[in-house]
Amino acid sequence: MSTIVRARPPRAFDVDAVRREFPVLARTVHGNPIAYLDNGASSQSPECVIAAVEGYMRRHHANIHRGVHTLSQEATGLYEAARDRLVGFIKAASRHEIVFTRGATESVNLVAQSFARPTLRPDDEILITHLEHHANIVPWQMVAQQTGAKLVVAPIDSRGEVDAQTVEALMSPRTKIFACAHVSNALGTVLPVERLVASARRRGIATLVDGAQAVPHMAVDVGALGCDFYVFSGHKMFAPTGIGVLYGREALLERMPPWQGGGDMILTVSFDGTVYNALPYKFEAGTPNISGAIGLGAAVEFLDSLDLGAAHAHEQALLEHAHAALRSIPGLGFIGTAREKVGLVSFVVDGVHPHDLGTILDRDGIAIRTGHHCAMPVMEFFRVPATARASFAFYNTFDEIDRLAASVERARRLFT
Ligand code: ALA
Repeated sequence: MSTIVRARPPRAFDVDAVRREFPVLARTVHGNPIAYLDNGASSQSPECVIAAVEGYMRRHHANIHRGVHTLSQEATGLYEAARDRLVGFIKAASRHEIVFTRGATESVNLVAQSFARPTLRPDDEILITHLEHHANIVPWQMVAQQTGAKLVVAPIDSRGEVDAQTVEALMSPRTKIFACAHVSNALGTVLPVERLVASARRRGIATLVDGAQAVPHMAVDVGALGCDFYVFSGHKMFAPTGIGVLYGREALLERMPPWQGGGDMILTVSFDGTVYNALPYKFEAGTPNISGAIGLGAAVEFLDSLDLGAAHAHEQALLEHAHAALRSIPGLGFIGTAREKVGLVSFVVDGVHPHDLGTILDRDGIAIRTGHHCAMPVMEFFRVPATARASFAFYNTFDEIDRLAASVERARRLFT
């Protein structure tokens, strides 16, 4: 069963109505209307998310799980309601499987230290792919150093695709963990995660999927996908920064020791010993990002209210338009030409450093990301120090992409 709701054929998507929900899209930058094309780094928040955070700050602010007073009860209710929304959003089996973290990065580190570190033995293998974000590389390197395990890296090809058969050939009896991106942040490639997770599971390999770049673009069903862990960040899916999710299969989370100790993750503490709290609180030590979680719950509510099929089809149409508009620019080369991509284009222009390009585009009110995108091995593979990356959300327009192409062409003429 597919875990992804594929883009259906384009049909009317009221982008103007959606844009009105996002206050920042009405502003100007250097005298131009903003064209915000840096959604892969962080997406904008709709009014309802801002209102949810503000409402908590104005009316309900208190610590959670700790007070009998009204504000604490209300804050706890809002925080836990957000967790329940997340259960539905990714089709987890229960609220015990949704752990709030600071973001995808913290979620991977939690799994590396709490799941992998106690189980890995010298010469065990952790398998990842060449296109991972640093957040899905470095935590595994750290745990490999701590345990004597080995990091094995599956290659990518010149399109920036991951070949499932090649990855499967690297799964051996020594492989204990397979971790991969659902979508590459640097290239936009959608990986064949359903097949890869199924292959790993058949071999008894634990699986982690980094869904940070997937959840804003496609419906995810962790039950159907069958992975053990799925991680993502709120701020890439229209919620605030500093909040994210670790989904973990309940039976595994039960067996894992807590990652951090502190308040709220315990039932009883004495100097003779501590009894840990039940899931998911065992993994939420200290006062969490309460307003962030409430904002994330509101973002999910917003996404639930959209026709996601139409939104994703709109994004795919934007992607096609961007390819067509940029392709005609002399000296422009795309980095990452996978057959299945989300709305993201990475490119270089002969004679123009990506940072210069980014600065010129900013003067025109166009926000893109330039650099290595926290994926230096991908840059190394394509033999470029950096790329320019335009990444789309459903609130972007064809006009913004035309402005992007015109501005890139203007920069090219300036430099060549
Ligand atoms: N991971 C974020 C990006 O791709 C920051 O830009």
